[in-house]
Amino acid sequence: MTAKILDGKAIAQEMREEIKARVAELTRQGVIPGLGVLLVGDDPASRSYVTAKEKACDKAGMYSSEVRLPVEATREQILNVVRVFNEDEKIHGILVQLPLPESSIEQEVIETIVPHKDVDGFHPVNVGRMLLGLPAYLPCTPHGILHILKRSGIPTEGAHVVIVGRSNIVGRPLANMLTLKNDMGNATVTMCHTRTRNLADLTVQADIVIAAAGRPDTITANMIKEGAVVIDVGVNRVEDASRERGYRLVGDVDFDAIKEKASAVTPVPGGVGPMTITMLLYNTVEAAARTLKQSAS
Ligand code: GUN
Repeated sequence: MTAKILDGKAIAQEMREEIKARVAELTRQGVIPGLGVLLVGDDPASRSYVTAKEKACDKAGMYSSEVRLPVEATREQILNVVRVFNEDEKIHGILVQLPLPESSIEQEVIETIVPHKDVDGFHPVNVGRMLLGLPAYLPCTPHGILHILKRSGIPTEGAHVVIVGRSNIVGRPLANMLTLKNDMGNATVTMCHTRTRNLADLTVQADIVIAAAGRPDTITANMIKEGAVVIDVGVNRVEDASRERGYRLVGDVDFDAIKEKASAVTPVPGGVGPMTITMLLYNTVEAAARTLKQSAS
């Protein structure tokens, strides 16, 4: 079997056109959706993510305001930027790029964002609401994965989904979202992690395997069943002297072998990655629309 390549870039583009139309409509009604972005330090990957997020805002007709702080910024300076964004009426969503150089303050920073501007869906209020199936901002990467599946006609209802990786950003929220009783959920989920015994015995049973472990070749062809759907969340830099920049990006799955056995697979790059930014725009537009609804009531 040769897998269908799930083109996250094309799906993201289609959604960004829809978002752009919504932004234009909100702008006509007097609200330009705005994103506040905070980047601390100069990690190259974080810098390029933040630049991509701002460019995407601009292309969609949205407003964005960026603050960059040096790596030695204090806790109080970081919290102050968040407080200013909280109060700013032009900002509907706040993004603090993670990881922060000082990881011990991440949770406090997240909890300082007012929940109605938490477009990353990381605040405990939004995490709790998501778990209960209440309206909430859903974390962007897992939400993007659900849209890839939905728009590719891959049903989750009744499917056995095996997730590898238990991060707060991807694996754990995704497991919860997939078990909700709605049109993107209703799956049976097995959650695997670094302490899982006999990982391959579990992944081989999956209708859908989601690799979010942050390690190349976590999923190889012998670990999946014929015709499984494979979603690759990994973004790993591996040295490659043949490239000008000295590295190339690979995911968590052995793509070349898996595409001969799976029924569908996401590539890296061009799979899950573009959807993450799209869902951030989606949540920010949603946040702006809510302020309009509130002012009307
Ligand atoms: N770092 C890696 N992924 C994310 C994300 O989805 N949001 C934020 N804020 N930082 C990240």
